[in-house]
Order: sequence, then structure tokens, then C-alpha cells
Amino acid sequence: MQSRLQELKQAALTRLAEVTDAQQLQELRVKYLGKKGELTEILRGMGSLSAAERPLIGQLVNQVRSELEAAIADKQAALEQASLAARLAAEALDVTLPGRPLARGTMHPLSRVIEQAEDIFLGLGFEVAEGPEVELDHFNFEMLNIPKNHPARDMQDSFYITEEILLRTQTSPVQARTLLRKEGKTPVKIICPGKVYRRDDDDATHSHQFTQIEGLVVDKGIRMSDLKGTLLTFARQMFGEHQQIRLRPSFFPFTEPSVEVDIQCILCGGEGCRICKHTGWIEILGAGMVHPRVLEMGGYNPREVSGFAFGMGVERIAMLRYGIEDIRHFYTNDVRFLRQFHRVQGGTGR
Ligand code: PHE
Repeated sequence: MQSRLQELKQAALTRLAEVTDAQQLQELRVKYLGKKGELTEILRGMGSLSAAERPLIGQLVNQVRSELEAAIADKQAALEQASLAARLAAEALDVTLPGRPLARGTMHPLSRVIEQAEDIFLGLGFEVAEGPEVELDHFNFEMLNIPKNHPARDMQDSFYITEEILLRTQTSPVQARTLLRKEGKTPVKIICPGKVYRRDDDDATHSHQFTQIEGLVVDKGIRMSDLKGTLLTFARQMFGEHQQIRLRPSFFPFTEPSVEVDIQCILCGGEGCRICKHTGWIEILGAGMVHPRVLEMGGYNPREVSGFAFGMGVERIAMLRYGIEDIRHFYTNDVRFLRQFHRVQGGTGR
């Protein structure tokens, strides 16, 4: 019996030395120490022993069991160590390898100008509104005091989809939509950035699709001076704090009186140069006091409230700000053009 136990121990230890993974270790544990294992089998055979031998053998069995348990535990610890070391080696990071450059996008200059304009007007208490690009003739023209056959329709050659539906030629229909939505409530104070479409032949300064920002304010006692102050603030924040603006009489069917607004030439500062055609001034937008008919059609009483509106071309502002000479650059998506705006500050960094 004693020798059988010794053999068993030796055999177990020999095989233990050969074990190389956790599964083999578990099998070995079951084989020798498990409920149906070899050691248990020996214990069962103890019935045939004499009363004198039993405690001795019992003690020996326990001793062998605890030796084997200890050896197995050691082996388990060693295996865990080894597998950790292997994992660390496999997952090792070579920090000396060159990095892979991440292609970084840039904000499109038009998006940037829109964001800057939104920042400026939000700071003045305006809300941003939106309207559909596929618009009803009703909102694009009729509600803006441009009835069918009005000569003013020729100012904006349109893409018609049906007789009543077109691609909007201006963001001004959002004025009409906003007035109806506000149901006579004041104040109305919105800007609306968005795409517009006109049947133009594309060249360096014309595009059949471009971007406008519309502005509309309606409240009691709104005057031309409010328009002028708002636009001066905008011009100074967009183009520099010493900027000056100039209002010239003009005509739009939905404003009366109407003006065109110039800023001082940002290239020559007013001296006169090629860009400003030697006038010192550059036109940036159209504006005026909301026509009483437009207020009326929008559900407002022109004897109680008044308002101003303006509309500017985003491309024009971006071209002036960044010295871009051809409007087509905005749409051809040449990355070499877009990449130049990596370093240009956006958003709040005017
Ligand atoms: N909608 C006009 C245009 O596209 C601009 C404008 C807007 C003028 C609002 C006056 C008031 O030319």
C-alpha cells in the first residue's frame, strides 16, 4: 500500500512536470485528486487493512494529497505567469514605429461664414429659421409682392418644376413663411441661411446655385436706423471693427424704401482699387423696410408694426473675407482649395 502511494505520487509529479496548459492541469487534478481519482480509490481500499495500518496509511494518503495539491497550485501559478508573459509579449507596442497620419477634414469656407454670421446675429438676439429649397411660387414671389407677370420676376430667372413649384430664387420666402408661422405675434427676429437657385450661366462671379442669408425683424416702432445699426454691427464683426457701411437707394418689390448696402473696400480700405472698381466701396447685400403689403399678407397690421429685412450672398462675403477670386472654387471640391482653410479660424475666432 505504501509503495503504491509512493508510485502514485511519483507518477503524478512526473506528469505534472509535462503539463503545459490549464486544461491538461485540470485533467491531471481530476485524475489524481478527483472524487473518482486514484487517491480516492486507494482510500476506498483501506477497508481491507488492519486496524493498526489504517491510521498510518490514512496519514500517508493525506500527506500525499496535500503534496500533490501544493505542486498543482504551484504549477497553476507558473502557468498563469507564463500566459501573462506571453500575452504581454504578443501585445507589445513598438512606440518607435512611425505613426499613421489621420486625414483631417476642414470646414468649408461657406459653412464657416454661415457659422460666423449666425454667431453674430444670435448675439444680437436673432433666431435661426429654415425653409424649403423646393418652394411654392406663392411664397417665393406672390407673398413678397411680386405677382405673376410683374417685371421684377425677370430679375431672378427661375428653375420651375411645375407652374406653381420652383427652386427658390432667394431666401426671402422664409420671411413670408415666418410671418404666417408667428401668427401676428411680435417680435419677429430671424435670420435664414440657405441655398438658392437661379438660371445663370456660371462664371467667376455667377453660379446657378449659391447661398444667401436672409434677415427679418418685425416689431412696434422698427425704423431704418435699426436696420443700419444692425448691419453696421454685422459688418464690423465680420470684416473688422473700423468697418464703415454705406446705404444707397435701390428697389426690391418686398421692401420700401429699399437700399443696397456697401462696405468699405477691404482691400484698399477706401482708397480705390481694382476690386472696388476705384469707388472705395463694395456692395454686400440688399435690404429695406418691409413693404406694408408683405406685412399685411403675412397677417400683420402695417399701421401697428413695421420691420426691416435684408438678404446677403454668402459666397460674396466669403470671397471678400478670404480673397477668393472665383465663385466656382466653392463647388469644385478641389482639396487643395479646401486645405487652405485648415489654419483659418472659424466660429467664435472671428
Ligand atoms: N431677396 C433679395 C435678393 O435676392 C435680397 C433682399 C432681401 C433684399 C431682403 C431686400 C430685403 O436679391
